[in-house]
Amino acid sequence: MGQKWLDGKTAVITGAASGIGFAIAERFAQQGANVIVSDIREQAAMDSARVLAERGYTAVGRAVNAAAEEDLQALVDFALQAFGTVEIWVNNAGMQHVANVEEFPVPTYRRMIDLMLVGPFIATKHIFPVMKRHQYGRILNIASINGLIGFAGKAAYNSAKHGVIGLTKVAALEGAGFGITVNALCPGYVDTPLVRNQLADLARVRGISPEQVLEEVIYPLVPQRRLLEPAEVADYALFLASHHGRSITGQAVVIDGGYVAQ
Ligand SMILES: NC(=O)c1ccc[n+]([C@@H]2O[C@H](COP(=O)([O-])OP(=O)(O)OC[C@H]3O[C@@H](n4cnc5c(N)ncnc54)[C@H](O)[C@@H]3O)[C@@H](O)[C@H]2O)c1
Repeated sequence: MGQKWLDGKTAVITGAASGIGFAIAERFAQQGANVIVSDIREQAAMDSARVLAERGYTAVGRAVNAAAEEDLQALVDFALQAFGTVEIWVNNAGMQHVANVEEFPVPTYRRMIDLMLVGPFIATKHIFPVMKRHQYGRILNIASINGLIGFAGKAAYNSAKHGVIGLTKVAALEGAGFGITVNALCPGYVDTPLVRNQLADLARVRGISPEQVLEEVIYPLVPQRRLLEPAEVADYALFLASHHGRSITGQAVVIDGGYVAQ
C-alpha cells in the first residue's frame, strides 16, 4: 500500500464535531494524521473523536471556544502534549445569523467577528512559533464564497469571511520563508446543519418556505443546482494540507458548483 498523504502529521481542527470540520477530520485521519477534534460542544467533540477512533484512526476530542485566546492557547498546548508537534491547523468553527443590517443585533455581529476572524488570528499567532520552529506548517481557514461576494442579510458573516481572506494573505507572506502555507477555502452552499438553519432563517426573512428558498433563491445561484457534500470540501483541504499543496499559499480557493463563475 502506498504511503498515506498525511502519515505521522498532527492536525487540529476547530468546530470539528459537525459538518465540514468533521469531514475534514475524517479525511485527514484516513490519510494517516493524528487529529484533534475540537469544538465548543464538548460532548459532541468527544463523541466525534470516538467515532473516528472506533474506525481505527488516531483521534482525540477537546473542548474549545475558538473565539477565546486562553482556550486556543490551551488547545495548542494540549496538541503538543498529546502528539509532540502540530503540522496542520484548520480554523473551521463558524456560525451564521441572517438579518438585515438595521435589525442585526450588535452583540451578535461582534460574536461572529470574534469567532470567524479574531479567533483565526489568535490561533495563527499561537501556532506560528511551533510551525516556524519545525520549518513546516499548513494553516487552512475555512472562509466562504461570502468572503468574495456579498449576500443580503449576512453583514457579520460576509465581514468576517472577507476579513479572514485578508488575514490569510498576510499570514501566508509571513510564513513563506518558514515552510508554512496559509490558504482560505471558499465553499459555496454545503449541506450541513449551519446551512439547513440558514435556509430556515432566509425563509423567515423572505416570507417563504425553506424548500422554496432552495428552489427559488439558492439553486438559481448554483449552476450545478445542488448543495455540495462536506467531503468535497475535505478533499480540497487534504490536497492543500499535504505535500502536494506546497506551492499554494495566500490563496482563497473556491469550491462552489460554479456559483461565482457567473
Ligand atoms: N455549510 C456551508 O455551506 C458553508 C459554506 C461556506 C463556508 N462554511 C464555513 O464552514 C465552517 C463550518 O461550517 P459548517 O457548515 O460545517 O457548520 P456546522 O454548524 O455544521 O459546524 C460548525 C461547528 O462549529 C462549532 N462551533 C460553533 N461555535 C464555536 C466556537 N465558539 N468554538 C468552537 N466551535 C464552535 C459548532 O458546535 C459546530 O460543531 C464555518 O466556518 C462556515 O462558515 C460553510
